[in-house]
Order: sequence, then structure tokens, then C-alpha cells
Amino acid sequence: MKGKLDRFDYDTHYPALHLRQNGRQHQLDDTLVSNLTATSGDLKIAAHLLSNGGLVAFPTETVYGLGADATDATAVARIFQAKERPSFNPLIVHVKDLTQAKSIGQFSVLAEKLAHEAWPGPLTIVVPRQPACDITELVSAGLDTIALRVPAHETAQALLAECNLPLAAPSANLSGSISPTTADHVRSSLGERIDAILDDGPCSVGLESTIVGFLDDHPTILRPGGFPRDKIEAIVGPCGEAIHATDKPLAPGQLKSHYAPACPVRLNATEVTSGEALLGFGEAMPGGAKHSLNLSPSGDLVEAAANLFAFLHRLEDSGPTAIAVMPIPDYDLGEAINDRLQRAAADKTE
Ligand code: TXA
Ligand code: MG
Repeated sequence: MKGKLDRFDYDTHYPALHLRQNGRQHQLDDTLVSNLTATSGDLKIAAHLLSNGGLVAFPTETVYGLGADATDATAVARIFQAKERPSFNPLIVHVKDLTQAKSIGQFSVLAEKLAHEAWPGPLTIVVPRQPACDITELVSAGLDTIALRVPAHETAQALLAECNLPLAAPSANLSGSISPTTADHVRSSLGERIDAILDDGPCSVGLESTIVGFLDDHPTILRPGGFPRDKIEAIVGPCGEAIHATDKPLAPGQLKSHYAPACPVRLNATEVTSGEALLGFGEAMPGGAKHSLNLSPSGDLVEAAANLFAFLHRLEDSGPTAIAVMPIPDYDLGEAINDRLQRAAADKTE
């Protein structure tokens, strides 16, 4: 591996990255997956891929994560595409230290105390987002909260330092299958849908991180995991608990689990009535809306997913009587987009 970077020609090895950067290519190339190891040359390649919108699976002490630049909406949309998630769950953002975490999330005294004691380690903390942070809204699935974690794994730390980016990373498996604790698990689940796998052997904890939310005065365990409850309670006192399945930590009714605009949302709109804002898709936008935004004029579902939450927020802020949403195809990322839009529309009648 030594000297590999000097000879490495990215244009030859990763032409798809250049294609992806011009926003057109959204099919994951099936020939480019790279097996990397924890050498400094390979870490540089992984960091380069991540800085250019690539997807890199990397080891943490809990499970392997599927990493992307958390500030790049298109890269984050590709995570959902690769995992075939039929809905947009918010993702955990991995950062190198508490200082970086505090530039992204607002830590109460208690939240900071826990972070200080538990990080680096298998613990994720959910706090309100810093309003000015540059993490893409898709990471939080439109919520005004953010899940943050400083992993203890040496290679995860080295990667975070090398790329100097906050990394959004869900477990690196297809939606609905079990979390990967070896690079082989990642390979057989996501195989060639991703740009590289950074292999550093099996994960030591083998269980996802514990998630603690600080969304009101009271800490709540949103998902049990690799960091034990008694240790958490020894630091912050008694915690509430959300009743949930492993991959859906927010039980309905306990915490607001998804974002919906305050105004009504009207789906499958083909024309606009007065006072409505329009969320469009594709070439033909009906006229007449006071404010309109097009998720993807070219009909690209990755681009549409990347824009979804930010555009809904902008249209909501324009004060319309309702947001009319044009039909979105129901395949690939369209399934998750439609799932979210249906929830946003249904919330108004609940
Ligand atoms: O150990 C882990 O946590 C691994 C490694 C890679 O760090 N990651 C992981 O990510 O398990 P994932 O996406 O499989 O699970 C993240 C969980 C999701 O169930 C999601 O709902 C929750 O974190 N989550 C993320 N952001 C949230 C937020 N703002 N509020 C509440 N829950 C959140
Ligand atoms: Mg998972």
C-alpha cells in the first residue's frame, strides 16, 4: 500500500465520482467497490472518496457504518438509495470530538456532562440542531434535532481526522437485514452499491450504540445498545425510556418522530389553487403558484430526495394556504419520498 496515493489516478479509478458530481449519475456503479485497509494511504483514498460525495463503509466499535459527508445532501440521499430504505429515518452523525459535536448540536449542561464522560464510545446523543450548522436537513429527516456520536474505534477516528468532515453513517446493511460486524457482512449486503469498504476486522462491541435523547429537561433512552443504562444513569440520573423496536426508536406519540409542515399538504397535484405553494417534480410545472420549488427538473430521484426537507421548510415559511405536491414516481428513492409526503399530508387530519 505504501506510495499508493502517489501513483493513484482518481480519474481512471473513480470516473463515476466525476459523473456523480455533475448531478446526473445516480445509478451506483457496480464495478468500482474498493477494499481498503487501515493504512494511511488507504485512509487518504477513503477520505478523498467521502469528500467527493462517495459512500465508504467503515468500522466502528459497535457495527460497520455506511459513511457519507453529512453536509452533502446528494451523498446522504445515496445512503438511503444504497440501503433501499423505504422511508427516511434520521441518521447518526459521527464526529471527531465534543467540540465538533457542539458546532452541530446544542448541548444542555447535562448532555455535555454525558458526552464528556462517555465519548469516545458506543453512545449516541440526540440534541437540538444548531440552527446555523451545515448538516444537510436530510440527515435529520427534516427534524430540528440531530443524533451525534464520537466513535472510539481507532480507524473511525483516523478516518474522521483524515477527511475532516462530519460523517452521516447508518449501519452498513440493507434495510431490514441485521447490522454488519465484519467487512464481509457489508460486502454481502451492500456489495457493489458503495464506493469502498474500509476493512479493519470485526467490531468489538457488535451491538449498535445506545441512543439518549435530550429533547426536554429529561434524558430519554431512545434505543438500548452498547453503552449500559446504569453507566448513563450514574452520570445523568434516572432516564426515561421510549418503547420501540431496534430500528425505530421513536414510539408514536412519545416523541415527534417526523417533520411535517404546519400547513396542509395536498398530494398528486396537477394544478395549483390560489394561495397554494407548489412543490414540483420534473419538467412540466403548472403555473399560478405564489411560491414554487422544483425537487428535480430533470426527474432525478436522488436530487429530489436531497432537496425534499429543505424545500418543504422553505415553502412552509412562505406562508401558503397549503403545499400542493406534484406526483412523484414510486420506485427507487421515490418510495421513501412518497412515504414521507404521505405522512406529512396525513398529519393534518390526525
Ligand atoms: O452503533 C451505531 O449507532 C451505528 C454505528 C454505525 O454508529 N449506527 C446505527 O445507525 O445504528 P442506524 O441508522 O442504523 O440507527 C440510527 C438510529 C435510527 O433508528 C434513528 O431513528 C435514530 O438513530 N436517530 C437518528 N437521528 C435521530 C433523531 N434526531 N432523533 C431520534 N432518533 C434519531
Ligand atoms: Mg440499523
